[in-house]
Amino acid sequence: MATFGSGNNNRRNSTNNGLTSEFERLLVGQPGVAKQILPFVEMFEAGLTPEGRPSGVFLLLGPTGTGKTKSVEALAETLHGSSRHILRIDCGEYQMDHEVAKLVGAPPGYLGHRETQPLLSQARINSVASERSSLSIILFDEIEKAAPSMMRMLLGILDRGLLRLGDNNLVNLERTMIFMTSNLGADKMQKELMPGMGFAAMNVSDEKGPGAKRLESIGLAAARKKFSPEFMNRIDSTIAYNPLDDKAMLKILDLQIENIQNHIDHRLGARSFELEVSAKLRKFLLERGTSIQYGARELKRTIQRFVLQPLAGVINSGQIPPGSLVEIDLKNGGKILIRIQPESEEEED
Ligand SMILES: Nc1ncnc2c1ncn2[C@@H]1O[C@H](COP(=O)(O)OP(=O)(O)OP(=O)(O)O)[C@@H](O)[C@H]1O
Ligand SMILES: [Mg+2]
Repeated sequence: MATFGSGNNNRRNSTNNGLTSEFERLLVGQPGVAKQILPFVEMFEAGLTPEGRPSGVFLLLGPTGTGKTKSVEALAETLHGSSRHILRIDCGEYQMDHEVAKLVGAPPGYLGHRETQPLLSQARINSVASERSSLSIILFDEIEKAAPSMMRMLLGILDRGLLRLGDNNLVNLERTMIFMTSNLGADKMQKELMPGMGFAAMNVSDEKGPGAKRLESIGLAAARKKFSPEFMNRIDSTIAYNPLDDKAMLKILDLQIENIQNHIDHRLGARSFELEVSAKLRKFLLERGTSIQYGARELKRTIQRFVLQPLAGVINSGQIPPGSLVEIDLKNGGKILIRIQPESEEEED
């Protein structure tokens, strides 16, 4: 791809730095991802993306629970201020050729023409952009499950940045970034990841350590086998995700606890309090909620069960005076213990 001159790019650089640091704060332990995605955002903002195709097309591959979907959410949050700014298409729902009508709408005269609101309409695509950025993010999750007719439709989008709807209207997708995630090669990756196979001992925290390189080639080989060369050729960047190491998992846990605190501050307003999760409970949450095989997939559920649910009980019983320090701990028998320290006892805050 051509590189463009770097005349007056001071402002751009500072914008890009802000974008990168916010994105990397949200996406943990995948240092290569920002470098592959954000330059396309920068090109879009500078008005330098080529016409007649989407502004960026990415295939995200790698083991489960390592941040593929999270990357797209992190970009939406960085660009638009919320991870809700994504047009998400779960390809598992379009495994049969006739189901593609849900995406593009039925042709006039066909049964259901009036009722089917095409999911990929211009209005829907525009609605996930925001005042902050006119770039719409579209996510095709589990692309390997898509029906052949959907793959043909997608090929047209990637090729021309246009989509013809059932009612013959044209949708322009030049101002979109398209992400496709896939678990292709995941079984083989899983085998590489099994304890005893030595993966835990491999250094995968480097951007492209030997372990990560091996996973990348497994993912790419599986994708090449499944998808046509035309399809693969229209992808700007195939990104392989590293399995997450203990340090990354700990950071993800910290981030999720931070999110709970933000939520408490916003939602409870004057009744809000300070939450502290003890070191012992953190260790337990990591053991229960994370693994080499499932990444951080179970962490949210584990936090829900062992932090949020016990906390909800105490909040609802009205036992927490506003401004208290609430510590959640794990007792030896595995029970959750909540200590409440009213504000007056806490001098500094
Ligand atoms: N690298 C990461 N940085 C921050 N959070 C992460 C990361 N990886 C996983 N998580 C956490 O785990 C959850 C599951 O991750 P995510 O949905 O991104 O998995 P995935 O890679 O898309 O897996 P799958 O292939 O199963 O869809 C996220 O919602 C997030 O809370
Ligand atoms: Mg996912």
